[in-house]
Amino acid sequence: MKDQNDCSVDSDREKKRRRSVYLSHSPEETYALGKRLGAGCSPGQVYTLTGDLGAGKTLFAQGFAAGLGISEPVSSPTFTILQEYDTGRLPFYHFDVYRIADPEEMEEVGWEDYIYGGGVCMIEWAELVAEILPEHCFSVRMEKDLEKGPDYRRITIEEK
Ligand SMILES: Nc1ncnc2c1ncn2[C@@H]1O[C@H](COP(=O)(O)OP(=O)(O)OP(=O)(O)O)[C@@H](O)[C@H]1O
Ligand SMILES: [Mg+2]
Repeated sequence: MKDQNDCSVDSDREKKRRRSVYLSHSPEETYALGKRLGAGCSPGQVYTLTGDLGAGKTLFAQGFAAGLGISEPVSSPTFTILQEYDTGRLPFYHFDVYRIADPEEMEEVGWEDYIYGGGVCMIEWAELVAEILPEHCFSVRMEKDLEKGPDYRRITIEEK
């Protein structure tokens, strides 16, 4: 997925919601898509990542971090809920809320300070905290289709 033409199969800009669908055929393509978005993101944006275990959410976040100019390794924050990276163009807050039992737990980590701060937030398993997400965010949905092979992913990005 080196450029838009390679991967964008559908861009629906007539509707109020902007939606783009990308087809990834390898981990590298997913990383590259994340990197491109990370390079172009703005302060205050919130990205929600949804998709099954192993869909590629963390890989996408790693690419995104690289696009922000973060050089340190980005790992899955599953056991910490939040990893913060301050070495890039903007602060990057990488959440993984897979293990939280109740969205109220997010208050304990200072959720609102991050969401409404000047950095960029990315939330893996965002559907688990749907009720506390801000009204405006970028939804990134990652889906496998095993009929199309183990490395195939359909990635739908929608501005909400
Ligand atoms: N096209 C692809 N895009 C992304 N990952 C792919 C692709 N093809 C194969 N993979 C593999 O799928 C795995 C994705 O792992 P990753 O940790 O990013 O998933 P995840 O959605 O964060 O999972 P979890 O829900 O456990 O956090 C990696 O092992 C990666 O190599
Ligand atoms: Mg993950």
